[in-house]
Amino acid sequence: MSETLLFTPLTIRGVTLRNRIVVPPMHQYSAVKGFPTDWHLMNAGKFAAGGAGLVIVESTKVERRGCGTVGDLGIWHDDFVEPLKRLAKFIKQQNAVPGIQLGHSGRKARANRPWEGDGPLARTPEIEDWDAWTPVAPSAIAHSEKWPVPRALERQEVKDLVQAWGHAARRARDAGFDVLELHGAHGYLVHEFLSERSNQRTDEYGGSESNRTRFIMEIAEAVRASWPDDKPLFVRLSVEDNAGFGPEQSVRLAKILKTGGVDLIDCSSGGITDVAPILGKEIKYGYQVPLSEYVRRHADIMTMAVGLIIHGDQAEQILKDRHADLIAIGREILNNPNWPMDAALKLGVEGPFRHVPPQFGYWLGTRAKRGFGTRPSTWQAGLQAGS
Ligand SMILES: Cc1cc2nc3c(=O)[nH]c(=O)nc-3n(C[C@H](O)[C@H](O)[C@H](O)COP(=O)(O)O)c2cc1C
Repeated sequence: MSETLLFTPLTIRGVTLRNRIVVPPMHQYSAVKGFPTDWHLMNAGKFAAGGAGLVIVESTKVERRGCGTVGDLGIWHDDFVEPLKRLAKFIKQQNAVPGIQLGHSGRKARANRPWEGDGPLARTPEIEDWDAWTPVAPSAIAHSEKWPVPRALERQEVKDLVQAWGHAARRARDAGFDVLELHGAHGYLVHEFLSERSNQRTDEYGGSESNRTRFIMEIAEAVRASWPDDKPLFVRLSVEDNAGFGPEQSVRLAKILKTGGVDLIDCSSGGITDVAPILGKEIKYGYQVPLSEYVRRHADIMTMAVGLIIHGDQAEQILKDRHADLIAIGREILNNPNWPMDAALKLGVEGPFRHVPPQFGYWLGTRAKRGFGTRPSTWQAGLQAGS
């Protein structure tokens, strides 16, 4: 039996993850007027029951204008607390830690769902609050020719938005989440403030690098004021956005965020332009791991690696190399919600079926004792029960 880092628990502040496998935020496009549905329970529940240490609920919007598309989850009102509580509790009941990402889509709001085509949504009578859903951004600059020109936020609106993130954090706390992640990546509102390409403001939120980072710093401060000291706070960054904001800027930002109470940087990339390497437009295993390694080494902060991490031994090697502290498994866990159990088996971890509930773990364990299902292809070798 082997000792692995992947299955060694990790404590951050007062929260202990049973292993280092994280389900990263993944939109489900299934909320109704911002409220979670049974779909969300099923989706998060299967990953939690599959053995992940931390399940982060998708980007949940701090205001209505920030919804990316139809079916985004919301947290802009106290009415969202009770239904989100049910979701957090359900994840906890499966022995995983419930996390939630807070987000705002900025100038990429009011878009199609991905499978309906990449681009802005067409106006239909079903969308009753079309005008209230107008995309906003630091400056009136469109994402690309096919996107509408957003309305530039007034200075007071920026300040109100900072407070909206703080209120959202309080609601996430009241709903029982134990890890909070701020979405500062992928070309959405927070990233739009960081990037010179999208931020040409002339007030204290634009211009110099420290002015462009002011929005995220004020958000982190407002969030930390409502988010308990014993609970971890993560920030997802596009550590390399291929448009001027790169690893060096990210390290400088991570260092300041750390002093503001941020515990970990979730290292992603791209999204501020359409050519950025996110969501499978690339072909290399672990393509963002070097970004995680760089931030971890230079900013002396914990990091999470994400992006085409597919295999258990690949994840274990990333941890052994000290390139990350946590491993996020996105699309591969959509493919196999029991990925953690599968990885435990393949890595030879003792009692791999202990990582899942007895409702199925018990049966898989007794079957394994008879020699079935512990190795791939035993059926091909003609092995029989008990052999
Ligand atoms: C269906 C889907 C929805 C996603 N939604 C979000 C999201 O809400 N917030 C976010 O930061 N990233 C989101 N992502 C990006 C993932 O969190 C992850 O970074 C990306 O899929 C790369 O990791 P992977 O190769 O393991 O899938 C989404 C990805 C997918 C496939």
